[in-house]
Amino acid sequence: MNAPDLLPAAGVCGQPLPHESARAQVSGAALYVDDLPERKGTLYAAPILSAVAHGRLRGVDAAPALTMPGVIGLVTAADIPGDKRFAVTAHDEPIFAIDTVEHVGQVIGLVVASSVNAARAAARAVRCDIEPLPALLDIESALAADSHVLPPVHLKRGDPQGALAAAPHRLSGSFSVGGQEHFYLEGQVAYALPEEQDGWCIYSSTQHPGEVQHWVAQALGLEQHQVRVECRRMGGGFGGKETQAGHLAVWAALAARKFRRPVKLRLERLDDFLVTGKRHNFLYRYDVGFDDSGRVAGLQLMLASQCGFSADLSGPVNDRAVFHVDNTYCLEHVQIDSYRCKTHTQSNTAFRGFGGPQGMIAIETVLDDIARHLGLDPLQVRERNFYGDGARAVTHYGMTVEDNIAPELVAQLAADCRWRERREQIAAWNATQPVLKRGLALTPVKFGISFTATFFNQAGALVHVYGDGTVQVNHGGTEMGQGLHTKVCQIVADELGLPLDRVRITSTDTAKVPNASATAASSGTDLNGRAAQIAARQVRERLAQFVAGQQGVRPEQVAFRDGQVVTPNGARDFADVVHAAYIARVQLWSDGFYATPKIHYDKATLSGRPFYYFAYGAACTEVVIDTLTGENKVLAVDILHDVGRSLNPAIDLGQIEGGFVQGMGWLTTEELVWNEQGRLTSHAPSTYKIPTASDVPEHFRVRLWPEANREDNVFGSKAVGEPPFMLAISVYEALRDAIAAVAPGRREPVRLDAPATPEAVLNTVAARRG
Ligand code: MTE
Ligand code: MOS
Repeated sequence: MNAPDLLPAAGVCGQPLPHESARAQVSGAALYVDDLPERKGTLYAAPILSAVAHGRLRGVDAAPALTMPGVIGLVTAADIPGDKRFAVTAHDEPIFAIDTVEHVGQVIGLVVASSVNAARAAARAVRCDIEPLPALLDIESALAADSHVLPPVHLKRGDPQGALAAAPHRLSGSFSVGGQEHFYLEGQVAYALPEEQDGWCIYSSTQHPGEVQHWVAQALGLEQHQVRVECRRMGGGFGGKETQAGHLAVWAALAARKFRRPVKLRLERLDDFLVTGKRHNFLYRYDVGFDDSGRVAGLQLMLASQCGFSADLSGPVNDRAVFHVDNTYCLEHVQIDSYRCKTHTQSNTAFRGFGGPQGMIAIETVLDDIARHLGLDPLQVRERNFYGDGARAVTHYGMTVEDNIAPELVAQLAADCRWRERREQIAAWNATQPVLKRGLALTPVKFGISFTATFFNQAGALVHVYGDGTVQVNHGGTEMGQGLHTKVCQIVADELGLPLDRVRITSTDTAKVPNASATAASSGTDLNGRAAQIAARQVRERLAQFVAGQQGVRPEQVAFRDGQVVTPNGARDFADVVHAAYIARVQLWSDGFYATPKIHYDKATLSGRPFYYFAYGAACTEVVIDTLTGENKVLAVDILHDVGRSLNPAIDLGQIEGGFVQGMGWLTTEELVWNEQGRLTSHAPSTYKIPTASDVPEHFRVRLWPEANREDNVFGSKAVGEPPFMLAISVYEALRDAIAAVAPGRREPVRLDAPATPEAVLNTVAARRG
């Protein structure tokens, strides 16, 4: 595939087509795991949770639960035939707590019953005898105790200490950014079915069916070919079902094995909050030196994240944070120290952006602090630090930024949203307002696309053309609402020159495409779309060969468009050609396989080219705060975002808007609060506030950058799933800008810990007033 991969002029790619499941979802016809018809004899499991953050587990008294109506029995670590730990690389997570518990909500065992309610009631009646031990509940105490899930990582380029010492100006500061609950609308769920001859079928709401297969096999002492995992769709994943879905599947499967019956396990929302990991919260300390123009001379940055009780994906999440500390800026002399702290809390995991947002917000904060210190326009300070040519195009991990469109894109957005004019208007307005203050910020995004674990960047697909000319596609990616299946169908339709309704997607199934990577790192379409394109192309080439042979033309003279097969001799219906090819014994289906080119990366030195390309964007956000109550509101948002050549502008727009609003929630209203015993107290919609329709800004304008991907990617597109999330950093910076306006001219950093709840805003306003 060396020729540039251009969008077909008259194809279905590039059209704003509805999501393949949209109608089924709104009418209730779309099935989620809990909607599947249940097999006769199905039982239900509920988890027994630790009420203690850290302690010695001395015993479990299930007697009161076992006599309750409908209760079938208990499942504990003693019932695990295989490995008693989950099949994670770090091998640090017991399937059920064995001798110790390490967070409130850790699963100690399951109660299995003939109804969901009976199982849940009985699980609550189980008494666990736990002797409490001292618990580490936050980053500061974990740092002080030298408690880490993985050893610290240090990345250094140039001479940061020398550059800091020689810089004309210097600032230092510290701040923290909170975690985030995924709040997928469909909670975690798995349904495990024992089948004949010790075969197993697992229906799982998972981003990674292959991993569920692997984990279940290892826990049950099976081989992988004995386990089949299927997922038609998730009601949202957001990274929360990358590893965490595997836990549910293993638990359900262990219960099903013990009682030789199908078992379903669906966590109720409160338990989902208590059991599963979230976005990592971070603590930052920085020391930055810069010149009169605001250009960074040297930066020393500490990132410390709360990983919880086990490693899970904390290694790659924190590495991605380190990789995104530069954002769109060249950091010549820099040292980054990354601490992955072990605490007695839920094991934090992937969440949209995968550490990228936590890395990026650090440099954006530093740059705004610099601008305020020097009394300069923050946009100018940003522009002065942009990546450039030569040595100024090389990242701190040694990758050359070859596709840098940030300068043009930011300039375009600044003009479109009238940046300079509005800065002046807002300053004038603020000067007349004693109570309300407005703020404005424009922040860019540059997000690396590819899994940093290079081997994950592979995908497979199957394309079947049936005798009537209709097509079924299957690939290793999963659908979580992001529109992956829709885009893959569009790609296959265009490759075969068919209308979209001829192409149908089937459930993700480990029996069809094996060893598939997680659908994550925004790379779903890049990987699976390409694999499906390659598969469809092979079928098309066979058909072209067949038609060419029949008609005495060259295969290149056979075109596929509008459901027709066109040659110099005329057009025939695709279905007729397929039928004739079938009679002539032509293979009408194919596999396809794709592995991302060019990438490589050395985990030990954090250097190489971990990313195939970057996705860019920028957002300009205006907010208003009430300095008496701390209440705040996003008034206007202008976004210019780069999806390359859009495969589906309707879906891409949805991803950009949804990503932005989810990011806004992370930085403003979504607050996770643990009490002194380590119990998460904000664990339901009543206490944990995600954005709603009424939080969407009144002025919310999204435009797409018109240029195709400069790297050869499917039809010139770019990944879109995660990058827009980070556009919401503009909300946080706009809030700091508004707070600064209570004492204009003061030069010190505005410390605002996120989420910027009214309480946090009010505290910062008070500190700013002095
Ligand atoms: N969009 C919806 N509607 N629901 C989701 O769960 N997950 C996000 C993003 N967009 C998500 C979503 C995350 S975390 C990722 S990595 C990507 O989608 C994954 O899908 P993709 O690779 O196909 O973009
Ligand atoms: Mo997304 S956090 O890579 O699942």
